[in-house]
Amino acid sequence: MLALLCVLIAAATVSGVAGRADQDSRAPQVEAAAPELFDHMLEVKALVRDLSRLAGDATKKSEALPLITELQGHIIAAKEMAPPSAEAKPESERPAFVLSFRKAMTELLREVAELELDIIEDRNEQAVERITTTLIQMRDRAHEVFQAD
Ligand code: HEM
Repeated sequence: MLALLCVLIAAATVSGVAGRADQDSRAPQVEAAAPELFDHMLEVKALVRDLSRLAGDATKKSEALPLITELQGHIIAAKEMAPPSAEAKPESERPAFVLSFRKAMTELLREVAELELDIIEDRNEQAVERITTTLIQMRDRAHEVFQAD
């Protein structure tokens, strides 16, 4: 009985290792495409929505702060990109347009840093106000300029 058990455990271990090896060798073909600006923006939207539910409550600080970090990561990734709307610009205007996109993203990043300080320092009303007013205004203005039709 013990011998049978050992054989079964050994077989399970070997197949487990083989399974991982197979997955590794297939990895390059199934690798996900790098996120596009659009994907980062969708994450920004979801995180801002989740933060709007947490930012008003000082007891939710430990839930809110990791979301702030995630949000900052998406903004940092996005600001390195060129918006698809840049393609429609004449070549001579494109670098300035892409730079102005980076500037708007950096301003968003600064605002999110202020939001982080509000949350850390328990200015919860101000945190909610910053999300529902300032961030939404920044979004609307930026989308007017940078979103393709
Ligand atoms: C709180 C701030 C923001 C939120 C919640 C947000 C949200 C979104 C969402 C949900 C989309 C995709 C869906 C759609 O087309 O409606 C989007 C697209 C886009 N956003 Fe934002 N956004 C924000 C700020 C910004 C800022 C500051 C910029 C520019 C610096 C920007 C530039 C863009 C661009 C260019 C697209 C189109 C991307 C593409 O088609 O690949 N957004 N945004």
